Amino acid sequence: MHYQLAYSIGFHPWEDAATDQPFVDKISELFDREEAGRERPFGPALDLGTGSGIWAVELAKRGWQVTGVDIVDKALRRARDRVAEAGVDVRLVHGDVTDLRAADVGSGYRLIVDSGTFHDFDTERQRAMGREVTAVAAADATLLLIAWPRRRRPLIRGADREEIELAFPDWTITGVEQSHFTLPKLMEAVLRPDEQWYRLRRR
Ligand SMILES: C[S@@+](CC[C@H](N)C(=O)[O-])C[C@H]1O[C@@H](n2cnc3c(N)ncnc32)[C@H](O)[C@@H]1O
Repeated sequence: MHYQLAYSIGFHPWEDAATDQPFVDKISELFDREEAGRERPFGPALDLGTGSGIWAVELAKRGWQVTGVDIVDKALRRARDRVAEAGVDVRLVHGDVTDLRAADVGSGYRLIVDSGTFHDFDTERQRAMGREVTAVAAADATLLLIAWPRRRRPLIRGADREEIELAFPDWTITGVEQSHFTLPKLMEAVLRPDEQWYRLRRR
């Protein structure tokens, strides 16, 4: 997906997930699990490819100290507006998720969320992202990562479990669950996202 172009023409269907109740219920359940038995503030969280900051803002409201990183300026401008409107504290950084240390995002992240970058990367960028995420993660970090299964389709490449395992050799996949993300009917039929959340724990 060419995200710069997508934002410039106002094409961002992933933002509809914010009002897609089954998706919201599932992501809330995943966040609940990471927070269970702990007290606010829950610690540093990193939202990779934060886009307009929907889930960064949600995490901040829940009590995480959030940094969101994205490579597209327009996405970050939209995120700034959303953060201001919500009145929460989120640090927004311009940077590439395959080069997080160069973007100076910091380190020690307990929760890392990727709702939509990894699964559109080729093998080289997947590996670079895995290396960088590991470099900025806390020793007991959790990574929640969305992937559409890999198949021939327009726009999104997709990524299989084996590719996730190869990109994150220091992590264990502890769960795979449907995200319940849905697209408008025609896009759904063509793209068949069949999207899943992978939960990984750093070893
Ligand atoms: C499918 S959108 C999801 C946005 C957001 N996570 C959400 O769920 O609403 C993917 C986002 O990743 C960003 N992105 C893509 N490649 C990136 C990269 N190499 N580094 C940082 N951000 C990237 C895009 O600009 C876009 O905002």
